[in-house]
Amino acid sequence: GNNPTILAIETSCDETAAAVVRGGKEIISNQVASQIAIHEQFGGVVPEVASRHHVQNMTTIVKKTLEEAELTYADLDAIAVTEGPGLVGALLVGVNTAKALAYANDLPLLPVHHIAGHIHAANLVQTIEYPAMALVVSGGHTSLIYMEDEGDYQIIGETRDDAVGEAYDKVARTIGLPYPGGPQIDKLAQEGEETIEFPRSWLEEDSYDFSFSGLKSSVLNYVHNRTQRGEDINKADIAASFQRSVVDVLVERAARAAMSYDTKQLILTGGVAANSAIREAMEVKMKKIGVQLIVPPLSLCTDNAAMIGAAAHVEWKKKNIAALTLNGVPNLSL
Ligand code: KG4
Ligand code: ZN
Repeated sequence: GNNPTILAIETSCDETAAAVVRGGKEIISNQVASQIAIHEQFGGVVPEVASRHHVQNMTTIVKKTLEEAELTYADLDAIAVTEGPGLVGALLVGVNTAKALAYANDLPLLPVHHIAGHIHAANLVQTIEYPAMALVVSGGHTSLIYMEDEGDYQIIGETRDDAVGEAYDKVARTIGLPYPGGPQIDKLAQEGEETIEFPRSWLEEDSYDFSFSGLKSSVLNYVHNRTQRGEDINKADIAASFQRSVVDVLVERAARAAMSYDTKQLILTGGVAANSAIREAMEVKMKKIGVQLIVPPLSLCTDNAAMIGAAAHVEWKKKNIAALTLNGVPNLSL
């Protein structure tokens, strides 16, 4: 039918997640087991550790998700799973679980691209109207994606080096903040002043690409030089100044993309879209240029399975059913 009830599974990085979504828009249940506390002690995600914890938690999370939904397998129309991109060992746990569940319950298996998932989180709060533009900012991606129609993804710009979340995490580590650094910088920046002039990388004038390694290096050098000279550093000012540089670039690029392409909506999504300064600045700018901004709530911006269930609805309509030979693809293209 048009309103399929889909059980979705997501294990591309360090969150073991499952959700039941109906018709691509309605969250029936949504469970996330975060491994943040585990990876915190290593200062970042350790792939092998992530895989092992997915194995340990996956079945329990699926069970909890169905219990929360008060549903059984007989009530489901399909199983969806993140096929990629992500950490291969992490992806395999979700993919294998989904294949087993699809086979055992004779349900179609829907493969979902993680970034399509982040974009479709927007459909859980509002309705995406095409053509639409999406800015996906996460730990692994910084991409501007133009969608003329549903399921049609055109990458018009992406990072040439570090993803923006990666830059956040590295800068955070440099000033001694725990992993993941994004939320920590976000908080600390609110107490700081934008007194330090860090570079903004604009690249070519007509490009929609991003570059954050120059900014990251500039912050690292600043901290290194000050520390060597025995001078104090003001962490809050560093956080605020770094963040301002990121915000300026993201907002300019997104606004120019939204104006140059025929679009009424801009979707801001991915883990870094949880950032308060980015949300605020984007809101102001989009209002100014008359583009509707859709930003999912924080819990749907960071990795979750509800967004995979929302994106799976598109695959359902396309009848894109995966074979039981489906594999995890770490560098899957959109
Ligand atoms: O989408 P996500 O949960 O996982 C990936 O697919 O990568 O994004 C994780 C990234 C991390 O780099 C984290 O530091 C960043 O999102 N992040 C933030 C904030 N919350 C999470 N960055 C800036 N400000 C935040 N409030
Ligand atoms: Zn993600």
